[in-house]
Amino acid sequence: MKPKIITIDGPAGSGKTTVSKLVARQLGWVYVDTGALYRGVALGVKAANIDYENPGALQSLLDSLSFTIVTQGKSMQLLSSGCDITDKIRTPEISMLASTLSAKPGVRAALLGMQRAIAVEKNAVFEGRDMGTVVFPDADYKFFLLADLKTRAMRRFKETPGQPLDEVEQDMAKRDKNDSEREVAPLKPADDAIIIDSTALTIEAVVARIMNKINHETPRP
Ligand code: DC
Repeated sequence: MKPKIITIDGPAGSGKTTVSKLVARQLGWVYVDTGALYRGVALGVKAANIDYENPGALQSLLDSLSFTIVTQGKSMQLLSSGCDITDKIRTPEISMLASTLSAKPGVRAALLGMQRAIAVEKNAVFEGRDMGTVVFPDADYKFFLLADLKTRAMRRFKETPGQPLDEVEQDMAKRDKNDSEREVAPLKPADDAIIIDSTALTIEAVVARIMNKINHETPRP
């Protein structure tokens, strides 16, 4: 039987990571964080210190990268050439570089096949920016989470204190702009996605809405 797919897209801090993990756990499906792949590319670019505006140099770097996604229920590890980079990719610098690089068509093309290959094997909840629009247009269920900028910045600040709140907010606004205004696969809801504004909702309430939809609606044939 064809594995089932749920896509959860949205901007940074919209709650999609926490929600996606909980939905995956409740269903016993795997959880896949596709932003980690873009972050993995950013870490590779930083480590190799290449000029990513040079298409040839960027393509060579992309060709040399070898990622392995280890999915264990609701957690996911990312290995690059066998080394665990799961924690190294969670810095403000890598967040911003991932956003910049994600606008490059070559980067998106390099990661597309990898994301689809995972879906061939297991029922999964995929979170990202273009899951419902580009990577899995035929997903069984599609959701798009939103929240206002101040709420999202405060959530991110509480999760990873260390960067001042106003800087977190500025970085987030810049990434929102990069991610939604890029030409290839911009951040936007799929026409058939269910949009949930999480600004005034608890995580449990968002998960309940999603589970309710899944339990009461038949998936796409
Ligand atoms: O979800 P995240 O914050 O880890 O994602 C980091 C960046 O990667 C984000 O700013 C844009 C990019 N990204 C993307 O373009 N498409 C995805 N499916 C996931 C992330």
